[in-house]
Amino acid sequence: MSLDRGATPEQAVANTLKQLRGAFALAFMFKGDENLLIAARSGAPLAIGYGRGEMYLGSDAMALAPFTAQLAYLEDGDWAVITPTSVVIRDGNDRVVERAQQLSQVSALLVDRGNHRHFMAKEIYEQPETISHTLSHYVDMGAEKVSIREALPFDFATLTRLTISACGTAYFAGAVAKYWFERYARLPVDIDVASEFRYREPPMEKGGLSLFISQSGETADTLAALRYCAGQGHHVAALVNTRESTIARESDVVFPILCGPEIGVASTKALSAQLTALASLVIAAGRARGVLSAEQETALVRALISVPNAVSQALGEEDRVVEIAKKLSKAKDVLYLGRGVMFPIAMEGALKLKEISYIHAEGYAAGESQAWADCAG
Ligand code: F6R
Repeated sequence: MSLDRGATPEQAVANTLKQLRGAFALAFMFKGDENLLIAARSGAPLAIGYGRGEMYLGSDAMALAPFTAQLAYLEDGDWAVITPTSVVIRDGNDRVVERAQQLSQVSALLVDRGNHRHFMAKEIYEQPETISHTLSHYVDMGAEKVSIREALPFDFATLTRLTISACGTAYFAGAVAKYWFERYARLPVDIDVASEFRYREPPMEKGGLSLFISQSGETADTLAALRYCAGQGHHVAALVNTRESTIARESDVVFPILCGPEIGVASTKALSAQLTALASLVIAAGRARGVLSAEQETALVRALISVPNAVSQALGEEDRVVEIAKKLSKAKDVLYLGRGVMFPIAMEGALKLKEISYIHAEGYAAGESQAWADCAG
């Protein structure tokens, strides 16, 4: 029944939701009743923020940070009737359910761009700090060893294969990690963009390990890939920036990257933090599998510890970067070439240029440029 046939707002929403297909996060408002909001989610994330005499609705802790830290995440199929002083949540079968309230770790102060022109600039300049912060979680600085704090539901020593899925920049972080895992831990890695993996439905060996990399922890394709792997009996590990996210909540083990909220649409500091955490996991795996000696581990850890300083130096080259950017701004097409770990980095560079300038760009394996030369020649 609809509103104009006398249904209450709750009945009208319940009826409407049963007819909807696909992913959505919705807020229903009702003319003449400004104190009523009905929220519903399926696929896309949605959280309720609890205030005093007021309630909020947002995609995640980051969006709600300026208003409140007290949150409850809606689960898939949930819908909620919200007034300034009350929240009643129902599941997909319209049964009243409890969704635990939690205190978000994201502070409103972190969601501020300070003196920078935009968030992307702020986040680029934060990297020496965010990489150090991430390192301090994974590395015992005194002992110069990697020390994984998370309880692992799997053993790196006996793994036969690692499956990685992610999207965009997070996928390129995983593609770099594939080179590292295979070289430093002799652990074979399969990696796919999650948007392909989820439809490919590959056969998977029970008891294996799947790793999902996602800054937001909410990317729908990555989440669908995760659910597929969990359904195949894989251990599910997530490398995320947002611990309260759906991907984190549905994983057996969560490896954090500690780079603070990433607001800029083009991912920057999350990538360097992802690579920092992945490098630490690679070292832990290499040690567990007897591939890295104690001396090799120390040498790699020292190299990792030197990264924040190297990034500071690179950031000191802004004048040169501006010069190069001026030249590039006139280009119609840009090719990024790289070999080994620099191949995924080349693809990431091309993605970044496309995202922020709309200049056509492509990342290519450097060796393939010879193939073009041969064709052209
Ligand atoms: C690139 C970018 C996107 C994301 C991708 C995955 O700069 O921001 O390509 O990397 O959408 O997002 P997450 O990591 O949140 O799963």
